[in-house]
Amino acid sequence: MQTITLNINGAAVTATVDPRTLLVHLLRDELRLTGTHVGCDTSQCGACTVHLDGVAVKACAVLAVQAEGAEVVTIEGIGSAEQLHPMQAAFREHHGLQCGFCTPGMIMAGIDMVRRHGTELDEPTVRAELEGNLCRCTGYHNIVLAIMAGARDMGTRDMAALPAAAE
Ligand code: FES
Ligand code: FES
Repeated sequence: MQTITLNINGAAVTATVDPRTLLVHLLRDELRLTGTHVGCDTSQCGACTVHLDGVAVKACAVLAVQAEGAEVVTIEGIGSAEQLHPMQAAFREHHGLQCGFCTPGMIMAGIDMVRRHGTELDEPTVRAELEGNLCRCTGYHNIVLAIMAGARDMGTRDMAALPAAAE
C-alpha cells in the first residue's frame, strides 16, 4: 500500500492505496465521488473524464499514485446545484443528454476544449474533439450544440463566482 496526498475539488486529500489502484476507483470507491463514471474497460468511452492539473484525462487510464501532489477536478467540483457551471447549464438548456451516463465526461471534456481552443468553438472542432467521448443515446447533435453554447457562456460569465476549483 502507498499513501498519497493530492488536492481534489479544492480540498486536500490523503489516501492509502494499492499501487495498482486506478484514479477512477479512488474517486468513486474510496471518496464516493460517483459523478465520474465507468463506461468501459478499454479506455474508450470517456465517461471517466476528469481534470488532472487542468488537463482532461481518462481517470481509468491513470493510476491513483500518478496523481500524487496533483490537483484533480471532478464533475462535483465545477459548480453547485444552486449555481451550475456554464457548461452544465448549457447541457440542460440544449438537451445535451438523455440517460446522462456520458454527461459528466462530456462536460469535463467540453471545458477542456475551451482551455485549448477558446470560447468560440465551431462544430467541426467539437465533433473532432469528442472522438474520445462516446454517447449511446443522443446522436451527439445536442451535445455539440451544448458544448458550443457552454463555451460561449464561459467567455461571458464571471467564472470567479463559481466554486474555487472551477475553470
Ligand atoms: Fe474510462 Fe471508459 S471508463 S474511458
Ligand atoms: Fe446516455 Fe450519453 S446520454 S450515454
